[in-house]
Amino acid sequence: MDGFDYRNGQLWCESAPAEKLAEHFGTPLYVYSQHTFQEHYQTLRAAFADLDPLICFSVKSCQNIHILNLLRELGSGFDVVSGGEVFRALHAGADPQKIVYAGVGKTDREVHEALTANIGLFNVESESECAQLDRLAQERGTVINAALRINPNVDPKTHKYTATGRRGTKFGVDLPDVPGVLRRWGGGTGLRIRGLHLHLGSPVHELAAYATGIERTLELIDAAKREGIELDTLDIGGGYGAHYQGSEAPAPQAYADVIVPLLHNRGLRVILEPGRAIAANAGVLLTRVLHLKQSGGRTFVIVDASMNELLRPALYGAYHCVWPVQAGRHVPVGRGPEQPYDDLVVCDVVGPVCESSDFLARDRQLPPVQRGDLLAVFTSGAYGIVMASQYNSRPRSAELLVNAAEPRLIRRRETYADLIRYEEETGNGMG
Ligand code: LLP
Repeated sequence: MDGFDYRNGQLWCESAPAEKLAEHFGTPLYVYSQHTFQEHYQTLRAAFADLDPLICFSVKSCQNIHILNLLRELGSGFDVVSGGEVFRALHAGADPQKIVYAGVGKTDREVHEALTANIGLFNVESESECAQLDRLAQERGTVINAALRINPNVDPKTHKYTATGRRGTKFGVDLPDVPGVLRRWGGGTGLRIRGLHLHLGSPVHELAAYATGIERTLELIDAAKREGIELDTLDIGGGYGAHYQGSEAPAPQAYADVIVPLLHNRGLRVILEPGRAIAANAGVLLTRVLHLKQSGGRTFVIVDASMNELLRPALYGAYHCVWPVQAGRHVPVGRGPEQPYDDLVVCDVVGPVCESSDFLARDRQLPPVQRGDLLAVFTSGAYGIVMASQYNSRPRSAELLVNAAEPRLIRRRETYADLIRYEEETGNGMG
């Protein structure tokens, strides 16, 4: 369920025709549906209502301050992973107490900034980081409340680049080491670990992985209690899926059905860090066809978006539905690769960047398209523009937030001047 659908053969975002948006704002263009962000947030909140959790939207998935502001208005907090993301969240008006800060490597400067902002929770990922936070807190005469990120050694059955909860990744503290770390830092002078954090990977469709990960965490909390260490916070991370093809991801309610009974009546403050489940299907990337080309027996549809705008296909081999905005009689049936038309053409949809990995779709059946046609790349709201680069000196795209029929420019298109801005502010020597 999202704000993008075909009516009379053409794609709309809420009550705005996608073709008109692209004509006015140019391409490549990220277009978001405001209503979809709101609905996805509310659905997740309703599913987990029994736990009354703090929902901390994962800023890394979709970081535009206007979108963060929209979610903040609904009560969302924020999961951040850098000083820059703390800055963004605060800029969007976040309640600092609703900011949780993860990441395996925080610099002293970043920790100081977060302390000055008075954020709610640090998620610490190693004993070395415990010592760092303890030292910095003591220097400032303050106490840091933290949760220890554990590595639950669960196979989340997701892409190896986005699997984090398995032993041998850089994330969290290995299970056997957790009791010792809690003993040493459960009641430190500067650092006080008062909870546990886990994040299995992204996306995780395997509900059993959540059950196992959370059960292992609860065992650690119970063991700590027997030793007199009270842990009152459990941050269960993100990883809730989104439909890229059809209905492959479990619904928020399905995650809740597994997770809520485990945590019900435990008296813990529960935190969730969803990103993709809220943002992915709230955005599409619009791109124009520049050329068609046959080469080596393949048909290439060359478009003006590239791996710079959407890295996921190149980096993870990720599937995104690509389809003409003016579909005519070829209205797609769902967003999967199989579509019920007999005149489709197998193509590679590729960008202008000088890399063979620069593709948005491979071996994909598409209706016949022509130069100038507009294509939509669906499910691009999460890990889309946030992973964009200027490779090949290509200015980054604009972003639009659509509310009903009203588009709002929430990030202007970069200019050539933007490309060289930082190279002009230079100097010699160390003075
Ligand atoms: N919490 C932590 C600690 C995380 O590391 C992440 C994502 C999340 C929450 C949010 O996960 P989500 O609910 O969005 O699945 N670039 C990859 C995804 C990397 C995810 C990194 N961490 C992609 O495009 O699929």
